[in-house]
Amino acid sequence: MAQTELQRALTVDRFPRSSAYDPQWVVDNLMGPHPLWQVEALMQVMSLKPGIRVLDLGCGTALSSIFLAREYDVEVFAADLWVKPTENWERIKAAGLEGRVHPIHVDARDLPFAADFFDAVVSIGSYHYFGTDARYMADLAEVVKPGGSIGIVGPGLQLDPGATLPSYLAEHWVPDFATWFGPTWWRHHWERTGLVTVQVADMVPTGWEDWLRWLEACNLVGRGSAPDEAMLRADGGKLLGQTRVLARVR
Ligand SMILES: C[S@@+](CC[C@H](N)C(=O)[O-])C[C@H]1O[C@@H](n2cnc3c(N)ncnc32)[C@H](O)[C@@H]1O
Repeated sequence: MAQTELQRALTVDRFPRSSAYDPQWVVDNLMGPHPLWQVEALMQVMSLKPGIRVLDLGCGTALSSIFLAREYDVEVFAADLWVKPTENWERIKAAGLEGRVHPIHVDARDLPFAADFFDAVVSIGSYHYFGTDARYMADLAEVVKPGGSIGIVGPGLQLDPGATLPSYLAEHWVPDFATWFGPTWWRHHWERTGLVTVQVADMVPTGWEDWLRWLEACNLVGRGSAPDEAMLRADGGKLLGQTRVLARVR
């Protein structure tokens, strides 16, 4: 019963590719909001040519890496700090993607790649952990070919820095939320480096709704988060959602 409800809750027309994946596999490997919905939302503005080399930075359990290789026929380096490459390798092999998705232990603050190695970088729900340092883009852009692209989706809060927090946010606030910036902040943060041209900086149009729907679905299998759900409901989609940024390396 819970399985059928989970399937129904996680099948949405706006993300047809994600809807084809086993919802139990997605919730069993969750680390944040639905990673496939987020990466599919990014692909609605970003294009990846078949065969190119992509860095999935902060891939967590590598679901987005598997999705990218399978859906867009790209070669993916599934790079993460907290999740061991051996664990991701098991998921990659189970998906039949050996040779196309390469698991690797990486600290994004110390990238172990050659200059100009990647055609594109994708980062889902992770970039805010390491990319708020104004100097970070210089390191990341170096491993991307000129003309390559960098796309991120992650938690976002459309509130000017310094603005007073609404009480429903203040009561749930933890220091990590200080990295939840909105599109305007990210656009300036990246453009002022002079290294990239920002092509898109927006909130995923259904980001708040997707996030809440995801948490409701996770409740069905005992994996929800009551505090996050309360915060999202109180917000009603005014400030919270998912920020999406896409840039081209100059
Ligand atoms: C909320 S999880 C998201 C994981 C996955 N992309 C997803 O959407 O399910 C954040 C991820 O950021 C990664 N991360 C945090 N700091 C990092 C760093 N310095 N270098 C590489 N990855 C990092 C963690 O290892 C973790 O897997």
